[in-house]
Parts: sequence; C-alpha cells; structure tokens
Amino acid sequence: MKKTLKKLLGSTAYIDNTDEYLNWLLVSNAGMQHKGNIYCFELAISEMPTGLPVLEIGAHAGLSANILTYLLQKHGRSTQVISVDPWIVRGYHDEQNPGAAYLNVVGANNTITRTAYAEYICESYLRNTAFFSPQNLPAPFRLTSDEFFESWANAHTLTDMRGQNHAAGGQFSFVYIDGNHDYDYCRRDFENAHRFLAPGGFILLDDSADGSALGSAKFAKELEENSNYRLRAKNPNRLFQKKAD
Ligand SMILES: C[S@@+](CC[C@H](N)C(=O)[O-])C[C@H]1O[C@@H](n2cnc3c(N)ncnc32)[C@H](O)[C@@H]1O
Repeated sequence: MKKTLKKLLGSTAYIDNTDEYLNWLLVSNAGMQHKGNIYCFELAISEMPTGLPVLEIGAHAGLSANILTYLLQKHGRSTQVISVDPWIVRGYHDEQNPGAAYLNVVGANNTITRTAYAEYICESYLRNTAFFSPQNLPAPFRLTSDEFFESWANAHTLTDMRGQNHAAGGQFSFVYIDGNHDYDYCRRDFENAHRFLAPGGFILLDDSADGSALGSAKFAKELEENSNYRLRAKNPNRLFQKKAD
C-alpha cells in the first residue's frame, strides 16, 4: 500500500492516505473520522482474511461505512460491512446518566428534540450508504454492541434494517470499534470482537491515540501487552492484528 503524506494534527503526526473521492466524501457525508483512520482501514483491508464481513461498532451517519466499502472495492474485496448502532445519539459518557434532562434537547437548540435528531441521523445513515455504497450496501443493525453480540452469538439468523437476512455466529475479518468510548464499553467491545475475529484479523480502536483522555485510549494502551495481538499501526489511533493460532 502506498504511503502518501505525513500530516500534522496539533502535535500528532499521521499518514494521510486520502484520495480525491475520499476528500469529496469527507465533506459531504456528516461524521467523525480522523483522516489517519483511513490508512489503518486500508492496511487492514489489504491484509485481512478473505470472505468474512467487516464489523463497525458506531456508525452515526454512515461516513466510516462508506469509506470502508470504497476501500473494499479498491482492494477487490466483495465482503460486506455490518454497522451496529442504537442511533440514540448520545455523547461519549451519557450512558452514565441516561435520565439527564439535557438529553431531551440538542445543546442550546431546544427546537429539536434529541429523539428527532437521532431519527434524522439514522435516516442520514440509510440515505448516505444507499447513495455512496450501492455496489455493496452496508447492513445496519439498530442495536447496542452488547445487544448485537448477544444476538450474533445466539440467534440462527439476523434481519438487518433493510430486511436482509444474515446467518449469525460467523467470524469477522476486521472490527472497527467506534461506539461508546468509555473504558468498560471499549473493553467489552474488544472482548466480544476477539471472540468472533478470525486469526489474522484486525481491530482498530477509534480515539486511542497517545494523549487522548478517553477510556478507549487507556484500554488500547493496555492491549499492547496482550500476547494474542500485534500492534500494526499507530496513526495516531491503534490498529491491532490478531496472531494466527
Ligand atoms: C463517534 S460516533 C461514530 C462515528 C462514525 N463511525 C463516523 O464515521 O462518523 C459514535 C457512535 O456510537 C454510537 N454508540 C453509542 N453507544 C453505543 C453502543 N453501546 N453500541 C454501539 N454504538 C454505540 C453512537 O450512537 C454514535 O453514532
């Protein structure tokens, strides 16, 4: 894979692997993606085991799903992206105080309820993925990651929001963890992902760069000591590869 420019974001250097299409996508599809993640996506996609789906935890308006399907196509991979998100659109830490009054409004704009905003983002995901990824439509599941893994482990078949059926229980080639960034959630997402990740498969933890105060960064640093995994990139978020059995 070609490495292009080294960029500076604040004090953090990272490889910018974007091309013209990705730069148009990044300005038209709302989302939260550090550009350095794209290098990690591409490294994982170019080396991951073949024929197994990619799982993303935390989809928001579909930006990462659309980046992933583009890179899958670029690397001749026909495997599908599975997106898991409850589309409740809370902040990073709101799970700790789910009854808080501020959750009923969107910041200082009290003309939009949080529920209406969440529906808008979910509809945006469906519209954005239908427009940008018709060649390999991502499969959305409106569940928390805990609920998804519980169903994936126990159900025979799961039906996504588009009405497509999926055989449950199989392995994944790559898991992108970008849901609730609190330490306990992140660790549980990793443990569940580990259970279903094929040997040689990849895990990218969003917001795991050095200097981040989020639980995801604390957990990812600890993961460097896990003998089942090899740190493959820090750009600046951490990409791990599961060692072969
Ligand atoms: C940082 S955003 C994801 C950004 C997205 N990947 C993108 O490319 O723009 C985090 C997302 O995680 C979702 N989320 C929060 N808690 C979650 C959970 N327990 N399981 C799965 N997703 C969760 C939120 O609804 C939100 O859409």
